[in-house]
Amino acid sequence: MTARTVPILPETIALAAEILGEGGLVAIPTETVYGLAADAANPEAVAAIYEAKGRPRFNPLIAHVSSWAMAEREAAFSPLARRCAEAFWPGALTLVLPARPGGQVCDLARAGLDTLALRWPRHQAASALITVFGRPLVAPSANRSGHVSPTRAEHVEADLGERIDLILDGGPCEVGMESTILGFDGEEPVLLRPGGIPTSQIVEVLGRPVRFHGAGDGINAPGQLKSHYAPNARLRLNVTSPEEGEGYLTFGPEQPGGLNLSPSGDLVEAAAKLFAVLRALDARYERIAVGPIPVSGLGEAINDRLQRAAHREG
Ligand code: TXA
Ligand code: MG
Repeated sequence: MTARTVPILPETIALAAEILGEGGLVAIPTETVYGLAADAANPEAVAAIYEAKGRPRFNPLIAHVSSWAMAEREAAFSPLARRCAEAFWPGALTLVLPARPGGQVCDLARAGLDTLALRWPRHQAASALITVFGRPLVAPSANRSGHVSPTRAEHVEADLGERIDLILDGGPCEVGMESTILGFDGEEPVLLRPGGIPTSQIVEVLGRPVRFHGAGDGINAPGQLKSHYAPNARLRLNVTSPEEGEGYLTFGPEQPGGLNLSPSGDLVEAAAKLFAVLRALDARYERIAVGPIPVSGLGEAINDRLQRAAHREG
C-alpha cells in the first residue's frame, strides 16, 4: 500500500470520510502539525495507528471534534475548562477532561484512562472532515514514533507513505508546533505540554497561575518522554560558535548565518518553521548546533522540543 496524496476538495474530504468509516488511516492537515487520523470509536482502526507509527506502547490519543455538541458528548467540562475552551477553540489547545460514560471514543484510544484529551482544530479541512464523518477522529502527529512532527504533506509521505491509505495535502501548517496540553488537578490548571498557545495567554484568560506538570505529580501525563522528537543527528543547544562540520540552527538578528528560524526574531515564524528546518538539517549533518532562543511566548514550546530532541536515553 502506498498512500495517495490529494488536494483538499469536497470529493477528497468525502473519500477520506469513506476510508475512515472502513477503519482506514488518513493523514490530515491541522493548523498545528499533520495528524494521522482514525475513527475514534473503532478500536481496530486505533490499533492500526499505533502499528503504523511504530509506537512502543499505547499512549492515549487526542480526540478531535468540530462542535460543542460533539465535545460535550465525550467529556465533562468544569466552568474553568469551559472558559479555556471558549477562549481558544477552535485552535491549538488540547484539554484533558473526565471522559463521559456515553462517549464514543474507545478505551484503547484513551489507553484505558478515565480522562480524555480533546481538541477542536481550527484548520478548515480538518474540521470539515470531522463534521462530514460525524464523530470524533483521534489523530497523533503523523510521524513515525520518535521522529520530528510533520508540518508538510511531504514529511508524512517520507515517514508513513507506505503504511497509510490517504494523505490530504493542505500545504504547510500555520502554527507548526503541536497543541498546548492543559489538564486540571481539581480546579488547578496544569500544563502537560507547552505548545502552540503560549502559557502566558492561558494564565491571562483564566486569571490564575498554571502549574507546570512535574514528576511525581498526581496528574497522569503519559507520552511526555524526555527523548521524543529525536532527529538522527546529535544536537547541542545554546551554542554561539558552532564547530567545524556542524549544521547550525539560529534565531534572530544577533545570530546571522546558519539556517535562521527567523532573522527578524519572530517566535511565531520560528515555531512554524522549526520541524521543517530540523528535518532539513538532519538530512545533511550528523551534528547540529542550535543557537540560543528566548523562552518567552512560543519560545517555551520551541525550547521544550529542542531539549527533547537533544536528549539521548542511556
Ligand atoms: O497538535 C496536536 O496536538 C497534534 C495534532 C495532530 O492535533 N497531535 C498530537 O498528538 O500532538 P500526539 O499523540 O503526538 O500527542 C498527544 C499527547 C501525548 O503526549 C499523550 O500522552 C497526551 O497527548 N495525552 C493524550 N490523552 C491524555 C490524557 N488522557 N491524559 C494526559 N495526557 C494525554
Ligand atoms: Mg507526536
